[in-house]
Amino acid sequence: MHRNIKSILFPAKMIRKRIKTLGKEISRDYKGREPILIGVANGALVFLADLMRALSCPAKIDLIRVGSYGQKASTSGLISVAKDIEMDIAGKNVIVVEDIIDTGLTMDFIVRHLQKNNPASIGVCALLDKSAARKINIKINYAGFPVTNEFVVGYGLDYAENYRHLPYIGILKPEIYS
Ligand code: IMP
Repeated sequence: MHRNIKSILFPAKMIRKRIKTLGKEISRDYKGREPILIGVANGALVFLADLMRALSCPAKIDLIRVGSYGQKASTSGLISVAKDIEMDIAGKNVIVVEDIIDTGLTMDFIVRHLQKNNPASIGVCALLDKSAARKINIKINYAGFPVTNEFVVGYGLDYAENYRHLPYIGILKPEIYS
């Protein structure tokens, strides 16, 4: 285990198993509809890569990256699009794929932003749901695991761009970010 990790919450094997189930659910719900998975870079890249391979229905992918000011362990609320999607999603079924929903401000911003392109539907798939920190109500159609209000890293999730490479999700020692 990395020296800055307090404990491992979800080992790689557990993540793999959960994603297999999520993939089955999405494939069943979107059968015959070919959804566009929109990954929220950079955090959701690892999740997106595994999730798309767990689908049995055809799917397309695109990426969006949003910026929020500062590198703190919480969202400031000032969000903007740093890199927009490139696909035409008008009339298409979209699923936004995110690593973690914390306050919900980022996902709310992304859904509102995508709605301007008139997709047929927008679903939300988040690997982690930190519901205790929620500031805005977000409907998560597919949630991987609930997490408590601690800062987690690994499997794509970072703190100041570190720890994304870890194959598991662990709790970062609070002294690292406080
Ligand atoms: P929200 O806007 O507060 O829901 O935050 C969403 C974004 O904050 C996520 O996409 C992550 O980039 C980041 N974030 C929130 N909580 C954590 C965490 O525990 N670890 C790593 N990143 C987090």
